Amino acid sequence: MTDSYRADFQILEGDALIYFDNACQTLRPKQVLSAMNEYYEQYPACGGRSMHRLAARVSQQVDQARARIARFIDARDKKEIVFTRNTTEGINLVAHSLGLRAGDVVITSDKEHNSNLIPWQVLQQKLGIKHVIVATDQDGLLDLEAYQHALTQGVALVSMGYVSNLDGVAQPVERIIQLAHAAGAKVLLDGAQAVPHHKLSVTQLDVDFLAFSGHKMLGPSGIGVLYGKSQLLAELEPFLVGGDTVAFSTYTSHEFLAAPEKFEAGLQDYAGIIGLGAAVAYLEQVGFDAIVARELELNQFLTKELTTIKGLHLIGPQDPSLRSGIISFYVDGKDHHKIALMLDEVAGICVRSGQHCVHSWFHDRRLAGSVRASVYFYNTLAEAEVFVTQLRKVLSVL
Ligand SMILES: Cc1ncc(COP(=O)(O)O)c(C=O)c1O
Repeated sequence: MTDSYRADFQILEGDALIYFDNACQTLRPKQVLSAMNEYYEQYPACGGRSMHRLAARVSQQVDQARARIARFIDARDKKEIVFTRNTTEGINLVAHSLGLRAGDVVITSDKEHNSNLIPWQVLQQKLGIKHVIVATDQDGLLDLEAYQHALTQGVALVSMGYVSNLDGVAQPVERIIQLAHAAGAKVLLDGAQAVPHHKLSVTQLDVDFLAFSGHKMLGPSGIGVLYGKSQLLAELEPFLVGGDTVAFSTYTSHEFLAAPEKFEAGLQDYAGIIGLGAAVAYLEQVGFDAIVARELELNQFLTKELTTIKGLHLIGPQDPSLRSGIISFYVDGKDHHKIALMLDEVAGICVRSGQHCVHSWFHDRRLAGSVRASVYFYNTLAEAEVFVTQLRKVLSVL
């Protein structure tokens, strides 16, 4: 049972708030906040630059966090962990550092978050790369036949969302990666919605790059990670350059440090890195078995109840076990933003409404948007029951 963890989230004290917007950001437990406060109160210094005791402690804590995150995703080496601001920055780092040239093909699906769409559109306009979009089917899964066909064009990179923030569906990434490698392409996974929700091994997947964000996995906002295989990071040119990326410089030349430092330009978000390390430690304590079990229990209940509401359409497969912790829906004739606003006003329920940064998918289907409830391990069945009751009330008056 994961209910005992609720006490670590101060904002959940009492029953005034039902937080179902976890795909946007999760809440943070007090352990993460304490780790960050400890940095600011006890050793608020620069890592890797100054020689004094405070700086040494920063360097040691950052190193520990890096090693913990590497173990968490089963990377072979902590040097494969590059700190970024978020998933978006990780994807942009790969996009701008991989040395893509005119004519190089980059494949994505038709259901990508803007963060894994716009970088390729911009490179198409600026460099003349070819961005190929492979369709997903009714169940939100990549059309593997069309994908295999697309791979015959001499593809440089497959950049794929692992778990979708639109419908919670996980792509068959093992197969996607195998096929890409067999065709000589590299693979970047957008792991923003995957890493927080299930056990993942970058070594077993044999993925080349994986980007994810701290704020979707109990960590602070403004910190993220790009995992990259050692030999690939060694080959990549840094995208942001300056202080902390070089071993030495003259007025006319410089010598870059090795990865990950060459990618971590300027003074880092030390509190963020340390907070993310604490978040990972917390997630390890909760355990993915418990996380998956609670998300499934809540999604099964919500799916069963919501599908009895007249005019309500679920986005993605009907089977809740295929939708992680996400229940995204729209209701005929009802405005999704009004539903979200009223849920908050009448019952303190926080959900997301709109197009969830997947405008392209909604635009293509001529849909205005959806309401997205997204749960995490600290949410309860009692909260899900209140959500259903209140949603019915809101729909009856809208
Ligand atoms: C699937 C997916 N990819 C990328 C992102 C972008 O993450 P960030 O804003 O942390 O860079 C999100 C955020 O919602 C997401 O859900």
